Amino acid sequence: MAKNTDLHYLGNRHLLKRSITYFSPYKLRVVIAIIAMLLYAPIPPGLAWLTKFIMDDVLIGKNIETLKLCILGLVALIVLKGILQFLQVYVINTTGILVLKDMRKDLFDKIIRLPMPFFAESEIGMLMSRIVNDVVAVRQSLPSIIMFVRQIFTLIALIGTIIYLDANLAFWSLIVMPIALYPIIFFGKKVRKYGRKMQSELSGINVVLEESFSGIKVIKAFANEIRESIRFNIENKNLTKIIIRQIFYSETSSRTMDFVSAGAGATVLWIGGSKVIDGIMTPGDLMAFMVCLVQLYEPIKKINMANQQIQAGLAGAERVFDIFDSPKIRIEDEGKNILEGEFRKLTFDNVKFSYPDTPKVAVDGVSLNIKAGQRIAIVGPSGSGKTTLVNLIPRFYDPQAGEIRLNDKPLKSYTLGSIRLNLGLVSQDTFLFNLSIRENIAYAMESCNTKTVEQAAKAAFAHDFIMEMPQGYDTIVGESGVKISGGQKQRLTIARAILKNPSLLILDEATSALDTESERTVQKALENLMQGRTSIVIAHRLSTILTADRIVVMEQGKIVDMGTHKELLEKCELYDRLYQMQFDDSSD
Ligand SMILES: Nc1ncnc2c1ncn2[C@@H]1O[C@H](COP(=O)(O)OP(=O)(O)O)[C@@H](O)[C@H]1O
Ligand SMILES: [Mg+2]
Repeated sequence: MAKNTDLHYLGNRHLLKRSITYFSPYKLRVVIAIIAMLLYAPIPPGLAWLTKFIMDDVLIGKNIETLKLCILGLVALIVLKGILQFLQVYVINTTGILVLKDMRKDLFDKIIRLPMPFFAESEIGMLMSRIVNDVVAVRQSLPSIIMFVRQIFTLIALIGTIIYLDANLAFWSLIVMPIALYPIIFFGKKVRKYGRKMQSELSGINVVLEESFSGIKVIKAFANEIRESIRFNIENKNLTKIIIRQIFYSETSSRTMDFVSAGAGATVLWIGGSKVIDGIMTPGDLMAFMVCLVQLYEPIKKINMANQQIQAGLAGAERVFDIFDSPKIRIEDEGKNILEGEFRKLTFDNVKFSYPDTPKVAVDGVSLNIKAGQRIAIVGPSGSGKTTLVNLIPRFYDPQAGEIRLNDKPLKSYTLGSIRLNLGLVSQDTFLFNLSIRENIAYAMESCNTKTVEQAAKAAFAHDFIMEMPQGYDTIVGESGVKISGGQKQRLTIARAILKNPSLLILDEATSALDTESERTVQKALENLMQGRTSIVIAHRLSTILTADRIVVMEQGKIVDMGTHKELLEKCELYDRLYQMQFDDSSD
């Protein structure tokens, strides 16, 4: 399981407070629900009083006038009860749904602004589970609290009534109350525990699903469906076991309450019945008492249920507010400077970086100067830190030591937007959104007209194949859209970069995933993109290296040499080796 799921350091009170703040935009609705709740409280004892009158005055006293009044009163009470209950339940539950919506939005907004390392550490499925499942539990928090309070009011009103009716009998029926409270507390804890386990298991299932479906090609290629099924089934079985336990505890809890209330009913019937036979108590009083008693255990059961829901809500809140409140989970920090005008200079000053939780240093004391208009090529064996080095420029990661400066100011002093929007990054993994080709090319552009999009597509050698698509520029590509080849995808991302018009361009082995045929076209598209721009090219092709102003050779996170192709061939043994092995352009 993901590490982040186990941070249970937030106190209950804090969690409740945080959950309730989400209801504050809906004050009016909450107030309506509370008023309905207050008006509702005296109705159950009212019903008991009516029973008393029907028994004593109507049935025994044979008074037809009271009968009429009682029936009228009964109808009025039932109608009122219905209306108030509807108001309260409807208003508070719909408010819960609105809160759910707000909370999902906030959670998504926060998660999408978290720094890259967070996404590397947490499984995406776990994050999705937080957004989809955990917030559901939180929405129950206030409705459950209101239910809780309402039942307490009803409880007090009913207890007052039975004490008034017969204090002695009330004592005997209430003596079982502490016994009834015990299961509330005991089972409440159990249900919360399993609620928490269930959410964590649900996110476990999400992780497996996410992985299996995005890795489906690999799974099929290795004919590994059965093993994946087994893996999924393990999670599935665990979840089922947990849910069954939860149902067991919640049902046992309810049935225990039933036994307690039946015991109390029998006691009252025995003692009260004797009193009526002895003429100490009227039948109406006993009937009213019994009606109260029956209704009395209802609120206790509901309090129990509300308690369980509050517990489940707390479990959800714990997991949601982990992300909101944890000091460890902070959104990306940025400076205030806006990168104005052109890119002039990028300086790496003794930069060191290692990935979180790894001992190996990925970038080890790199110093490098890049001036406007230059084309820098980075070469080195795989794992030498080339990708890591260029990922520091858009601040996907921040170095632990040393400094990167842009136009002589620390990179950290700029806003993230002004760095990233001035930067074009093309790597071998392309990503297209589930949008039309036009929208994909103009991604994140505020305005784009058809002409500029087409110009970009032409420069990226994409226009022709786009025109052959069923709906041309309006064809939907991406996950559920038309499937296109790797080279075509790559050309669309190049068109995207051309339209973005960045002053600094980073190409990270952009063509290495392509076959020779499409690589040639993409290479031409890239040449168009690099035209008149400063560029850093991580290269695997001799042709790219030969056009570079300077070649940087990396090994194990360090820069081992720099120079032109000719110089390096003479003085750098590693470069010579790489040249013999990797930059063999015989296929061109
Ligand atoms: N996300 C990551 N988490 C941990 N280690 C990583 C990550 N990405 C790369 N590394 C490690 O950092 C080193 C440099 O990798 P990378 O920059 O991808 O090299 P290159 O691009 O030169 O092949 C390697 O040892 C690699 O294992
Ligand atoms: Mg790489």
